[in-house]
Amino acid sequence: MPYAGTEMSEKPTQGLRHVAFQTEPEKTQRVEYRVIEAIRRGEPVDPSVHASLKDCDGVIEIDSFNLWYGQAQAIYDINMKIPRGEVTALIGPSGCGKSTLLRSINRMNDLIGGVRVDGRMRLNGSPIYAPDVDVIGLRKRLGMVFQKPNPFPMSIYENVVYPLRIDGENRRRVLEEACERSLRSAAIWDEVKDRLKQSALGLSGGQQQRLCIARAIVADPEVLLLDEPCSALDPIATLRIEELITQIAEKYTVLIVTHNMQQAARVSKNTAFMYLGRLVEYGPTADIFQTPALPETEQYVTGRFG
Ligand SMILES: Nc1ncnc2c1ncn2[C@@H]1O[C@H](COP(=O)(O)OP(=O)(O)OP(=O)(O)O)[C@@H](O)[C@H]1O
Ligand SMILES: [Mg+2]
Repeated sequence: MPYAGTEMSEKPTQGLRHVAFQTEPEKTQRVEYRVIEAIRRGEPVDPSVHASLKDCDGVIEIDSFNLWYGQAQAIYDINMKIPRGEVTALIGPSGCGKSTLLRSINRMNDLIGGVRVDGRMRLNGSPIYAPDVDVIGLRKRLGMVFQKPNPFPMSIYENVVYPLRIDGENRRRVLEEACERSLRSAAIWDEVKDRLKQSALGLSGGQQQRLCIARAIVADPEVLLLDEPCSALDPIATLRIEELITQIAEKYTVLIVTHNMQQAARVSKNTAFMYLGRLVEYGPTADIFQTPALPETEQYVTGRFG
């Protein structure tokens, strides 16, 4: 089952110690976190959305989106557009709702009992939450990759072509071509081309994650959703995935959750900072890391807060 099961494993704490921009001297005066304090008091806040992202061509548009797990609200009034053909990073402290928001986009939260949503999301203009939405069809339009690589217990080849097979495609030529194309795009073809019939479980963690990316793109999704795709990988495998994300972004829109500030700075064009289920600041990555509008964003990306 490609879409069943969610990633609920324990969360890594890595990342915030290895921050990208720690060159400024420590501030001695107390920084006033106006937005964060208001969020903590449960008051509505106006996030700081930079101008270029207000009017962008959004492949995903999120309007007044709220989500509850039972009685507990996890997402509050999110309004944002994910720009077409770019990499956008979602950052924020553990539990702030990054994975929930990502899973809301392909309606994986439907699989969790007691989830209720309010508001709208659109993928290329078509509603994600209208009553008549074909959810299986929607998920085909969104490739998703999780924190831990999750190859199926089958051959490398069958893993990659699985989304096409469940869509009824059985022509060998078509499957073989798609398999090679996806494995090449995922920068793993050379490593596996002579062992396509062997079990995917025999690959290293980094190879398995690239295989999962190949599987996520084989059906040509409109957006690739990545939830901490490198957190289970060593630094070399992480670098390879980051290079891969940069390449893939030439063709796909990518939305990536990461705890690693350097990774957000390296791979993304835009960054959204979330806190306690709310959007705090959203702008071009260079601005978010170098000249953010809010002191709390600056403190978070430099590892002094969160
Ligand atoms: N299946 C669930 N049932 C109930 N509450 C949940 C469920 N999944 C997440 N939550 C709660 O929703 C909030 C947001 O969780 P989420 O997993 O989206 O955070 P996150 O930002 O991805 O955190 P992390 O960085 O640790 O992965 C948290 O308070 C969490 O406890
Ligand atoms: Mg998460």
